Amino acid sequence: MLPSHLTSGASAEEPATESSTIVIRRAEATEADARLLADLGATLFADAFGAMNAPDDLQLFLAKTYSPELQRAELRDRDRAAWIAEAQGQACGYALLRRGARSAAVTADSPAELQRIYTGRAWHGRGVGEALVRACIGQARAWNCDAVWLGVWEQNPRAIAFYEKWGFRRVGAQHFVVGTDSQRDYVMALELSNAEPERRHR
Ligand SMILES: CC(C)(COP(=O)(O)OP(=O)(O)OC[C@H]1O[C@@H](n2cnc3c(N)ncnc32)[C@H](O)[C@@H]1OP(=O)(O)O)[C@@H](O)C(=O)NCCC(=O)NCCS
Repeated sequence: MLPSHLTSGASAEEPATESSTIVIRRAEATEADARLLADLGATLFADAFGAMNAPDDLQLFLAKTYSPELQRAELRDRDRAAWIAEAQGQACGYALLRRGARSAAVTADSPAELQRIYTGRAWHGRGVGEALVRACIGQARAWNCDAVWLGVWEQNPRAIAFYEKWGFRRVGAQHFVVGTDSQRDYVMALELSNAEPERRHR
């Protein structure tokens, strides 16, 4: 859990003016967290990428990816771990990590995939993503993984810059389907050595 110096924001959508603390908590396999992650996941995906996808493709993707049933199954999966970032009790971001998920581009023996990481638009650039990545890397180490990898849309330069600051490097590419649209993702990987990876250029 990471206390934060952050000074605004009350929910994913609504920045507040009063001082607040970010809490990163592990999501639990409860009905409440399944519903929260389904709602937050769909909202933040649409907020980040809705304008760059055809409405029908977006709706197909959201329906296939986010529902209380789907997120409940993810939360019950012992090879997955999810975290929710909260400010004043309101969710403002989340991350999902999966042990053992593989990519042809990743040669590690025991990789974990950072499957999703999203923060509310009002929170971008305020350190919430950093806190979530730290939680994921810590969990990957606890699982004795030797690498964390992810797919990121080639048209998402801010996220690519974010990952590069954590030491992720491009190792390949893969397709990611939004509805009927097959998009090209870069595969990026971070090898986990004994040394703690630190975000650069702070
Ligand atoms: C990518 C993302 C998770 C990063 O989380 P974050 O809370 O903004 O990250 P932090 O505040 O810890 O780090 C900020 C860094 O991320 C990058 N960044 C990514 N998106 C940014 C944004 N909208 N505004 C400012 N910086 C952004 C910058 O490189 C920045 O570095 P800097 O502080 O040196 O300028 C978040 O911006 C996000 O949810 N984006 C939309 C959804 C998305 O692209 N998810 C990843 C899919 S693969």
